Amino acid sequence: MTNSNGKVLRSEAWFGPRDLEGFLHRSGLKNQGWDEDSFSGKPVIGIANSWSEATHCNAHLRMVAEHVKRGVIAAGGFPLEFPTISLGEFFLAPTSMLYRNLMAMDVEEMIRGLPIDGVVLLSNCDKTTPAMLMGAASADLPAIIVTGGPQLKGNWRGEELGSCTDCRRYWSELRAGTITQAEYDSMEEAIYRSPGHCMVMGTASTMSVICEALGMTLPGGAAIPGADSRRRVFAERAGATAVDLVRRNMRPSEILTEEAFENAALSLLALGGSTNAIIHLTAIAGRAGVDLPLARWEELSERVPVIANLKPSGKFLMEDFFYAGGAPAFFKKILHLLNRDCTNVNGQTLAENVAHADCHNDDVILYPAHALYPDGGISILHGSLAPDGAVIKRSAASPKLLQHTGRAIVFSSPADLSRRIDDPDLDITEDDVLVMQSAGPIGGPGMPEAGFMPLPRKILEQGVRDMVRISDARMSGTAFGTVVLHVSPESAIGGPLALVRDGDMISLDANSGRLDLLVDDAELERRRSELQSRDMTNGYIDRGYMHVYNRHVMQAQHGCDFDFAVGRTPVATHVEMEGAH
Ligand code: FES
Repeated sequence: MTNSNGKVLRSEAWFGPRDLEGFLHRSGLKNQGWDEDSFSGKPVIGIANSWSEATHCNAHLRMVAEHVKRGVIAAGGFPLEFPTISLGEFFLAPTSMLYRNLMAMDVEEMIRGLPIDGVVLLSNCDKTTPAMLMGAASADLPAIIVTGGPQLKGNWRGEELGSCTDCRRYWSELRAGTITQAEYDSMEEAIYRSPGHCMVMGTASTMSVICEALGMTLPGGAAIPGADSRRRVFAERAGATAVDLVRRNMRPSEILTEEAFENAALSLLALGGSTNAIIHLTAIAGRAGVDLPLARWEELSERVPVIANLKPSGKFLMEDFFYAGGAPAFFKKILHLLNRDCTNVNGQTLAENVAHADCHNDDVILYPAHALYPDGGISILHGSLAPDGAVIKRSAASPKLLQHTGRAIVFSSPADLSRRIDDPDLDITEDDVLVMQSAGPIGGPGMPEAGFMPLPRKILEQGVRDMVRISDARMSGTAFGTVVLHVSPESAIGGPLALVRDGDMISLDANSGRLDLLVDDAELERRRSELQSRDMTNGYIDRGYMHVYNRHVMQAQHGCDFDFAVGRTPVATHVEMEGAH
């Protein structure tokens, strides 16, 4: 394929020349059993696969890749599957978020380095989707993402359960003594019973819908369960679309516009989606050259009702969302808020793509007039305790705690919290505020999902199930409670969170967006002077990847990306036949 400037597709410059290099490149495919007619002169489509047995949500992506290949071949392209690193929530210590930027770099550099003209990104678990989009946005080669879909609904003794909202809920019940260990154990295989990501509106589900809101995946794909054959049909269509994207020379930069990011942010808010996705979307926007400051989230959140009636904010699960019409039906109900003309990878506008979308269950995808939370699901907070911002998912909080002043009970780290939270001598009441330090991007390290602090056993035994909790950590999108997250600047770099002491009074007013430490300035200055100077490594290893991480990770309001990775450096899609790579 030659473009109007007489240049060829970048893959052709690898596989076309009848010289030693061309010989070697062709041989590398022939030794895998491919005939030259299979790839010669055809768009080469990379399939970036985050399949891994250590990422259970992505463990079926090998099968999905086979269906992508069918679509690529049927459309006249040639598929070239390659692995990326994979980030699973369950099997990666200290936290998968520590490695999101590493995966984004892996994806970007493989796209840049391999002889491909376009790429299909296969992701699913929480961090794999943003990492794929970050890398693809920076490389800017034609790209489409295919997520692996949610798990089927859990079913335990006839009760429909969602991971991991209900694992957490019943964990509290176990700690309170209302269910037995054997009952809790029997829930494991009843919840996790099929391929896919967590099936509540957690981070993975939120990111899947965000892919669709951004236009980076085909319409209707976000919610198809991983076990449903329509997921495979969808993958095949995506493979064919990737070939078409190359023929149209349509790059992510044409799709990932400021308006597309606004659609994604509005969708996240209307979903009552995961607070983690705020960080991820901010990072993806940064790669695409779009600024998405917290102030913009504040403006948007004021006008977006939560209409997805899904756990943990609502009642249903992703399988119900799919049967109700999925993301297209959801977008149609908030189309008046969205930028209708944004382009999808299929070349059509958002408005065109949802024109015939029907909602089959108005209890799952609500009309805005019947919103679950008319005033929005997420609030951005500022104040003396969070000068650079903090986040609260009000749709998952207890309404009575959204305005609360209480005495701080401070834990110096997640480890300190685990050690002392169930201490019978801990001086605490349900009106106190749990504060945890050293769990931010640097302090964690990696900003672990430790923000959903367990309540002290003695408080649980009193029948209390929620208290105000504040930290610089993240929280799983599947969790619930009155939990203030992403406090910035984080305590490890001397943010005000580091100055809080037991007994200080803290005021939270989510309705007016305030989070204040009620301690006078002179006392805070005195405490600040006592802070140790910052240890760049926070006691963690300081070589290899961590050496880079410790010095370059940015704070939550900047998406926790590396300062040097922001922006894009587009790969040349067409090159002269000579000097190809
Ligand atoms: Fe992968 Fe929840 S563990 S999405």
